[in-house]
Amino acid sequence: MSDLGREVEARLRTQVVARPLVFRPAIDSTSTLARQLAEQGASHGTAVLAGTQTAGRGRRGRTWTPFPGRHVFTSVILRPLLPPGRVPELTLLAAAAVADALRAVGAIPRIKWPNDVELDGRKACGILSEMNTDAAGRVVSVILGIGVNVECDASDIPDELRDRATSVRASIGRAVSAADVAAQLYESLEGWLERHAGEGYFPVLEAVRTESATIGFDVRATLGEREIIGRAIDLDPTGALLVRDATGTMHRIVAGDVERVRRS
Ligand code: BTN
Repeated sequence: MSDLGREVEARLRTQVVARPLVFRPAIDSTSTLARQLAEQGASHGTAVLAGTQTAGRGRRGRTWTPFPGRHVFTSVILRPLLPPGRVPELTLLAAAAVADALRAVGAIPRIKWPNDVELDGRKACGILSEMNTDAAGRVVSVILGIGVNVECDASDIPDELRDRATSVRASIGRAVSAADVAAQLYESLEGWLERHAGEGYFPVLEAVRTESATIGFDVRATLGEREIIGRAIDLDPTGALLVRDATGTMHRIVAGDVERVRRS
């Protein structure tokens, strides 16, 4: 195990998440390996962590390209006792866990619905949840892929992304360790998974509402060919985003790209 893997192991205070922790200095995608391990029977909580990725995957076929420096590229195998329709709850749960971890290292995170965590209005973390079901449609595993930009300066971020992307170090203006962020993240994730199993989705939604970078803002939601512009009002009990357009019509957004827009 290289330094990052060892450093994270030394900091781990979890019982389930990242037990075991599979570390690779470099890999194509932690989510690809996690999926293979899940197919081979890896247990709930198994985490793959990489020093870098050569083919990191983002949502909607996008790529997740590493910036220079040490960051968190991880995929956690979950075996939730949930019907497929409730699996999207785990994406916002992961966002709440990332937000907790970033707060613990001194940052001020905001959750951008449905799967990003921002610092200073710029993306510092992306989350990609992938569900695997059996022939009967039951959930066999969920791979929670999480990328957090940690140890780079704003000047390390390509010019074309600098107004949209940031890192923890760039945001808080001092040194921060990717190992600390990863260990905190696994601990927060374990806490949120326990709470979700015991209390349901409501506490996750409350955390997301409190730290939302979306609710209360004017947004453009792109749903395939369709576009909805309006004010993001709230989340409904399923985690869908409620957007009221200029005519007063309320739209329930369950998936899609949502960007803040300037009020006209
Ligand atoms: C997005 O914002 O589109 C989601 C990005 C998710 C990136 C992470 S990095 C670790 C894990 N492995 C991957 O290949 N993707 C996720």
